[in-house]
Amino acid sequence: MLNKKRPIGIFDSGLGGLTVFKALRRQLPGEDIIYFGDTARVPYGTKSPEAVIAFSEEIAAFLFKKKIKLLVVACNTASSLALDEVRRISPVPVLGVILPGVEAALKAAPRGGRILVTGTSATVKSRAYSRALAAAGAGVRVTEKACPLFVPLVEEGWCGKPVALTVAREYLSPFRKKNIDALILGCTHYPMLKSVIARVMGPRTCIVDSAHYAALGARAELEGRGLLNPGRRGRSEFIVSDAPERFSALAGRLLGIKTGKVAIKRF
Ligand code: DGL
Repeated sequence: MLNKKRPIGIFDSGLGGLTVFKALRRQLPGEDIIYFGDTARVPYGTKSPEAVIAFSEEIAAFLFKKKIKLLVVACNTASSLALDEVRRISPVPVLGVILPGVEAALKAAPRGGRILVTGTSATVKSRAYSRALAAAGAGVRVTEKACPLFVPLVEEGWCGKPVALTVAREYLSPFRKKNIDALILGCTHYPMLKSVIARVMGPRTCIVDSAHYAALGARAELEGRGLLNPGRRGRSEFIVSDAPERFSALAGRLLGIKTGKVAIKRF
């Protein structure tokens, strides 16, 4: 039996999922949250589907042992490639970040409108967003674009440097004149480059960050199941598979998150 007091589990390939963690914290202040970052094996975006599925199953099994009541896959690459597999072995509800991004983009793009999906090479190759948009039956035109240099730029803390704008222009300026209604930030790191991306795309394009919508989805899921923790100050616990000090320093520097002591779990 699941109960309200149990924590929520959330995982990402590294620290990018902290953008989703932050949104969850905001929406669900009373919940205990366990965040796992697979810092030993990041990036997932260049790995094969088999590897991403195996890593995701391993992490999910680890979090199930912590008696979580809900699992949020806060990594676009893992959500694109491994969501079904994780759901198959899960005793608790599992939410990904693709559908929330799709729902948000459809609010910004009218029927017949244009959506540009950005993400890692693995996410784009999987075409998970295109399939989800087609399944939503909204009649939008979808293009996908891999932007692999965005992740190392963010991790280097260079979002505000001129090189970030140069790289964003290289990837995205060909789309500026294409009447894009919504651009989906289909990678956990990309919200940290939102203003640079918005500058390249121009004012016509709505930049969609799925983190907020993923958090709303998590809240609705818990509410619907009577599992919302009414507490006032939930605890946060951070676990990584390597280099906890680097994770903690970057969490503070990039997102203003004070992690406290970060634990290690090696697989
Ligand atoms: N977290 C990954 C994602 O959202 C980006 C980083 C990586 O390649 O692992 O796709």
